[in-house]
Parts: sequence; C-alpha cells; structure tokens
Amino acid sequence: MSVRAGTPSANVECALGGEPAAFAAEFAATHAPEQDVFVVPVSNGTRAITLALMALSVCSPDERFRQPELGYNVIVPGLTWTGTATAALGRYAPRLADVRPDTLCIDADAAESLIDDRTAAIIVVHLYNRMADLERICAIAAKHGIPVIEDCAHAHGARYGPSAAGTVGAVGTFSLQGSKVLTTGEGGFVITSSSQLADQVTSLATAGRRVGGSVELQGGNDRMSSVAAAFGRAQLTRWPEQSGRRQETFRALDAVAAMVDGVMPLAPQPAVEVSPAYKWAARYDLGEFAGMSLDQLGRALEAQLGCEVTRTYAPLNDSPLYIPHSDPFLHISDDYWAEINPRQYALPAAEAAHASVLCIEHAAGLDEKFADHYAKAIERIRADAERIARETAP
Ligand SMILES: Cc1ncc(COP(=O)(O)O)c(C=O)c1O
Repeated sequence: MSVRAGTPSANVECALGGEPAAFAAEFAATHAPEQDVFVVPVSNGTRAITLALMALSVCSPDERFRQPELGYNVIVPGLTWTGTATAALGRYAPRLADVRPDTLCIDADAAESLIDDRTAAIIVVHLYNRMADLERICAIAAKHGIPVIEDCAHAHGARYGPSAAGTVGAVGTFSLQGSKVLTTGEGGFVITSSSQLADQVTSLATAGRRVGGSVELQGGNDRMSSVAAAFGRAQLTRWPEQSGRRQETFRALDAVAAMVDGVMPLAPQPAVEVSPAYKWAARYDLGEFAGMSLDQLGRALEAQLGCEVTRTYAPLNDSPLYIPHSDPFLHISDDYWAEINPRQYALPAAEAAHASVLCIEHAAGLDEKFADHYAKAIERIRADAERIARETAP
C-alpha cells in the first residue's frame, strides 16, 4: 500500500518510521479494506487507550474535557483486562458498568445509568468472541454528546455489520501483546477515520512533536519499534487465512455448545458480520458436572484437549490487579477516590460470568477438527464427572 505525501499515513511514516507505518497501512488494508481509516502504530494496547483519550480531549470541541482535574469520568465495562480501566487513571475517573450475561460485553443500560454531565467517554470492549452492542451504545453516547472508544484488543478482523471493529465509535484501539491473534510481542494500534485524531495520536506517541494537524500537547515515547513491526508484517501475510479458520471453528463450537447439556454458548449476534475470535467463551452449568468447581472443569478440559482453558478476567470491582490506591504517584483526593473505588460498583453479571464461563485459547481454532474433539471431550468429562470431581478435589 502506497503512502501519499501529505496524508496522515505519511505523517505516521515521518514520525514513527517506515516499518511501523507500513505495518499500520497493511493492517488497515486487511482489517478495514473498504474503509477510509487511519491506523497509528503505538507501544501497546493500554497506551493506545490513553493516547486515544488524550487525543479526544484536545480534538473535542468541548473545552471541559481538557481539564481532567475537574473530575471527569469515563465508563468502562466491569469485565475486562485491567488495562482498559488503568489507561484512564489519573486523567479521568473510571466508572465500572456491568456487562450483559449473554455476551459478556458492556450493558448499555448499565452504562447509561452511570453517565452524568462529567462523563468524557464510554469505552466498550469487544470481549473474547462477542462484540458490544454498538448500535445502542453509540445512540446513547450521541444523545449525551460523548465519544465512544472501542477497545478491540480481542477483535482484530471483527466486523459490526459492514464496519470493521474500531471504526464505529470515534476511535478504536488494539493490543498486539503476546496472547493476541495478531502479535508483535508487545504493541498496539489506534484506528480512526479522523485525520486530526490520527495526527494527534501520532504526535502524542512521539514526544509531542507537531504532526500534520496536531496541536501542542505533552507527549512521551509510545512508538512501536521497527523490529516489532517487521514481525507483525510477516504475520499479516498468514492472518486472513488463519482468521477464517478460527471463525469456522468458533462457529462450530457454538453449535456444539447449543447441543450439549451443561454448556451454553454466548448469544448469537445478528448485527455482527464477523465475530471476534480471541478466545472461545461459553458458560457451564456445574450441576451437570457432578458439582465440580469451574477450575476443576477447566483443568479436566485442558487435559482432554491439550490447549489452554482459562477463566474470565476477574471483575474489576474485585481484581487483584486493579488497585489504584496502591499507586504512590497517583494523586487520589477524597473526591477522586469516591469516584474510582472499585468496590462500590455492583457487577452481578460480571461476577456470575467469572463463576461460570471458561475460555479456550484462539490457537485451538486453527485445528479444523477441534470442535469434534471438544464435543467428545465434554461428553467424556460429563460421563465421568463424579470420579473427576472426587479425584481432583483440592
Ligand atoms: C481487553 C483488553 N484491553 C486492553 C488490553 C491492553 O493491551 P496491552 O496488554 O497491549 O497493553 C488488553 C490486553 O491484554 C486486553 O485484553
């Protein structure tokens, strides 16, 4: 893909280097082929969210968002990797919204109930193998005049209707960390259709130097390295084929789950043209497995399938990794603590998901026979559940 002089892509190339700019352009062409979007390569997915928030604050016509000390907040789902929330810490107060039991993504009503006149953004996460309800969330956000950020750390290649993940809201962010379907070890992207936002993110990632239409703002070093980008470019050549295979396997797994007692697939999503395929998540009724614990069932599945089976992230109101008060450099006033204290947020659906959902790693999706293996494995475990429960009890 060529980079024309004077475009934000050219600005990215000047500021961030040829290899990262080429990787970003190739990702844009693969992830959002028919769309006019800008992709900025950055250091990781957490910083991508912070940079998006900072860029939005200066690109917003609303001056208020430039003064986080006035107590602005962002709404974040309570079931996500901690980075979604920590990215905002110190700038905005993350407020935790519960998720939908059937998709594990942010609940639009819960998000709306947390909006007030100091809400700067809603951050949605397309989690595991489902997408957030962008139609409703974007309608709510538009009603309140606030932008939506799509955290697409799990959603490379996903599409909501005809739109690539990250392009429905004002800005989207990606992680390229080691566990992701496209990885450079560490790394990230910011995607947006706004050239001004793209320029601002590029500027912020490169020590704040002026880039295209950016305005002056203190930046730091959030560059993607050329070495990382070169790895990413090599992976992209195989990625479309791998994505297709994962999609098929995940669809087949949903079909198996719908047939097996004790396993419930997440809800179908007619609005989603291509689902995320980061991990295949499904809910389990432990009563069907002789009352073994979710961890026991996960270990039994791992043993049968030979792949990683994990529980969901811990809900952020009780996560050992979301402890903002422990940061000695974060200025936490009483008012700020009153906003961010994670414990105050009730997240029953996130907690229920953490107690009943297991996730299978994306690499398993490359095996064309995996859904068959899974169907046999889960039936074997069910048939032998009493013995497994007894022998693997802690
Ligand atoms: C949902 C979600 N958001 C944000 C991030 C943060 O990305 P990174 O680890 O690249 O900083 C991750 C990755 O771990 C993630 O899974």
